[in-house]
Amino acid sequence: MKFKTSNVILTGLVVGTAYILIFSNTQPEFKHDKDINIPILSQEAQKGEKIFNSNCAKCHGNNAIGSDKGPPLIHNIYNPGHHSNLSFYRAVKMGTKQHHWRFGNMPAQRHVKESDVTLIIKYIRELQVANGIIYKEHRM
Ligand code: HEC
Repeated sequence: MKFKTSNVILTGLVVGTAYILIFSNTQPEFKHDKDINIPILSQEAQKGEKIFNSNCAKCHGNNAIGSDKGPPLIHNIYNPGHHSNLSFYRAVKMGTKQHHWRFGNMPAQRHVKESDVTLIIKYIRELQVANGIIYKEHRM
């Protein structure tokens, strides 16, 4: 069978674009706990870590690297330019519908107080910065 070069190139382009669209945003960047840099956390972030571990880690994983029930928060799509602190307060208060991943919806975590979410955010942002995840303007 003979392939037309132009078709092969076109197919390559389509498959490549689809691959980028599907996987560039949704592949965890850290597969193991040990892949992640753990910085010296501020006192507030240390408190946030405890609250995170008892309320969020069962889905978002130890050190927020993700689990089979939820996405990593130490991930470029959760940089503050794409997911501001507001999205954390909102997700905890109202839950969030599945949209970036395929883990299903996040149920609201109403037992977690707003002031505790502030500490969790401190923790996540410090972990993000230590792993090169910094503010990037969101373009769509
Ligand atoms: C039962 C599992 C589960 C628990 C517990 C959970 N989450 Fe989530 N969370 C998810 C899933 C799944 C998503 C991804 C939804 C999507 O984008 O597809 C998510 C998404 C998020 C997002 C992104 C929201 C957005 O706007 O896209 C934030 C922020 C977040 N979670 C924070 C937290 C915090 C903080 C806690 C603890 C107080 C927590 N989650 C507890 C499952 C969970």
